[in-house]
Amino acid sequence: MPTDIATPIHTKGFAKTLRKDKWWLYPGTVVFGLSCFLIYGLWSAWQADYYWFSAGQDGFGGYLAPFYSPLIFIKEGVAGAAPMEHSFFGPWPEWWPKWIPPSPSLLILAIPGVFRFTCYYYRKAYYRAFTGTPPACAVGALPRKGKTGYKGETGLMRVQNIHRITMYFALFYIVVFFYDAYLSFFRAGELGVGIGSLLILGNPIMLAAYTFGCHSIRHLVSGRRDCYSCGMGGEISHQNGKVATWLNQRHERFAWISMIWIVVADLYIRLVSMGYIVDLNTWGL
Ligand code: FES
Repeated sequence: MPTDIATPIHTKGFAKTLRKDKWWLYPGTVVFGLSCFLIYGLWSAWQADYYWFSAGQDGFGGYLAPFYSPLIFIKEGVAGAAPMEHSFFGPWPEWWPKWIPPSPSLLILAIPGVFRFTCYYYRKAYYRAFTGTPPACAVGALPRKGKTGYKGETGLMRVQNIHRITMYFALFYIVVFFYDAYLSFFRAGELGVGIGSLLILGNPIMLAAYTFGCHSIRHLVSGRRDCYSCGMGGEISHQNGKVATWLNQRHERFAWISMIWIVVADLYIRLVSMGYIVDLNTWGL
């Protein structure tokens, strides 16, 4: 039956909306969560000490805080530093500026940072939460005029395409973190397990669940075909695609779990290394 009652579908102005639900909860949570992650990550990287624990034991094994892995260089004589044999390139370089702490973490944090920063999921999250463009579906965006008007990911924002390159580095990090996990199940060469080992092992597992759900990886393993039943390798491609799609559908979830996990693992090892908490383990050390 025709009706002449006009229903408003739109309202103008920043954060103005006809929505009645708690739409602000999601961007608010993103601002809080990502801010905590950034603050902790930078704080941990700046410390430059207490990133290693092996209960004073020499030999194979020990816990390495994930924000400090891989160890490109190691500064000797620092409290809670890893033994020199864990360094890729040996002792700390002389050319390092004196005003920056000799932190192995500062050398390697940028790559995973850029990988997450350019992730399709995180982009959606921080465009909404931090730049309000718009803050949520059907909610008014921050007003922009003239040259600063919204142009999507054009111009300088094309740099976000670097994601497909950093994805390869992320794969390398997963391998390194699995090696750290292997290391963490030994103390002075003796096989065992501790809370720290389990946290360190969970880190690459969660990171892999996040990374293998990446849109770029999904395209790489299965997205370049028009037809799975045509040509060689179609079935393998189809199976890979199913796994990547399953993870991709849960990409946001694994993005958050992996982010929280690495912070918990890093903080735990730092606190154990500083002696604030005692690691429960089978070595009794
Ligand atoms: S799209 Fe999120 S990691 Fe690639």
